[in-house]
Amino acid sequence: TVLVVDFGAQYAQLIARRVREARVYSEIVPSTMPVAEMLAKNPAAIILSGGPSSVYAEGAPRLDRALFEAGVPVFGMCYGFQLMAQTLGGTVDDNGAREYGRTPLHVSRAGSTLFEGTPVEQSVWMSHGDACSAAPEGFSVSASTDVVPVAAFENDEKKLYGVQYHPEVMHSTHGQQVLEHFLYRGAGIEPNWTTGSVIEEQVEAIRAQVGDKRAICGLSGGVDSAVAAALVQKAIGSQLTCVYVDHGLMRKGETEQVEKDFVAATGANLKVVDASERFLTALAGVSDPETKRKIIGREFIRVFEQAQLEILQEDGPEVAFLVQGTLYPDVVESGGGTGTANIKSHHNVGGLPEDIEFELVEPLRQLFKDEVRMVGQELGLPDEIVQRQPFPGPGLGIRIVGEVTKDRLDLLREADAIAREELTAAGLDREIWQCPVVLLADVRSVGVQGDGRTYGHPIVLRPVSSEDAMTADWTRMPYDVLARISTRITNEVADVNRVVLDVTSKPPGTIEWE
Ligand code: XMP
Repeated sequence: TVLVVDFGAQYAQLIARRVREARVYSEIVPSTMPVAEMLAKNPAAIILSGGPSSVYAEGAPRLDRALFEAGVPVFGMCYGFQLMAQTLGGTVDDNGAREYGRTPLHVSRAGSTLFEGTPVEQSVWMSHGDACSAAPEGFSVSASTDVVPVAAFENDEKKLYGVQYHPEVMHSTHGQQVLEHFLYRGAGIEPNWTTGSVIEEQVEAIRAQVGDKRAICGLSGGVDSAVAAALVQKAIGSQLTCVYVDHGLMRKGETEQVEKDFVAATGANLKVVDASERFLTALAGVSDPETKRKIIGREFIRVFEQAQLEILQEDGPEVAFLVQGTLYPDVVESGGGTGTANIKSHHNVGGLPEDIEFELVEPLRQLFKDEVRMVGQELGLPDEIVQRQPFPGPGLGIRIVGEVTKDRLDLLREADAIAREELTAAGLDREIWQCPVVLLADVRSVGVQGDGRTYGHPIVLRPVSSEDAMTADWTRMPYDVLARISTRITNEVADVNRVVLDVTSKPPGTIEWE
């Protein structure tokens, strides 16, 4: 394991991903974790992330010197680099040498572990106020910029390395190569972490956890729950029952697809519960998005509990486990990167009531989305499931701004089906991360259709490009595809007289509209 010590920047997750892209397993730990605890994890290497503080600021996170003396290879980036310099006796000062954004880096490759085989001039992403003006004793300086004399240093003997910039971001042109040089050459790690090893490990862990009891798994039709279910199915077979709750907030054809494709691929026991009446009744009169989420989350669990009771009527052991497709970003976002038990992800379990009775099984909690897809593929799930774009658990309920009613859902389902059909026909499914189609149910405006005045609703298209949904940009989609979608929706969906495009990135917007 490579530990990524998080100094409070949004970069730690990205670093962890990049390490895994180098086929080395990585985990994020908070900088407040005592060094002894980090070392107890027996890490193959430690990476110190960037962070928003100045090493001189009061209360700035520090590191125990012992970390650098344990013989574990360490790579500091940005704040981590400065902290390393300062702790080991180098000089870090606020000399006005600020650098933000793309910066030319001058590299001296001779004898360098980090930069071997990379260009002497390369572009890197900087974001710092303080700068290192003298490396600690025993370190050689392997890169500089026009304003910073020490932009990278290395100490092969102690296996300590650092760079002032952010190698993990795309704008650092040789960042991945430099990171891999640290991992393979500096730390001597073999790149052998694969999704196959994840499957083996998880199957064993699931068997140990569940024993001879039974589990149920909520299937939403999304990638995460499908892959989680397939993994648990592989581990415990018929001890698992998948429950697919049709809450009436699904998209067109979704229920049928789960019934057909998922069962065909996994052979799992599937119980489909039609609970749309129940959800619609509970949602009646509610416009506030958080209230909607709470209601949907609560009803979900109630339906599961009912399903549990029904399964209990059948002969067999206790149904004690609930399988969830919680991913690593959910865990980290909910502050659970430390490995504490029983963390609930706000995305997957948003409105869980407090009196929940299941123990959770979360076999994907170490994985990023792209890794989940690879696991799914390896488990034999079809592309229609594995490659599908993310769709939120609360479904179309959080894509109607305003009250959720059956008529509005039917209308949105039609519009969404048209958009999906055209995006697929245009071959854009892989390029677009996801494209929420949103109904502004509380907005009406005047239009003209045929020869008459209309007073209809707008539909919003929200195509976004993203790597992990944490940040996103709106997708520059071809105008002719937009035109086809617009024409078809206004022609084919009653009560819609406008189609608008959302051109906001995330932040400041979110991906969903609710
Ligand atoms: P936002 O809207 O927060 O969405 O930018 C980020 C990503 O998360 C998905 N999303 C959810 N997924 N349950 C889920 O399983 C949820 O409650 C939920 N809310 C948002 C959203 O589709 C996007 O991919």
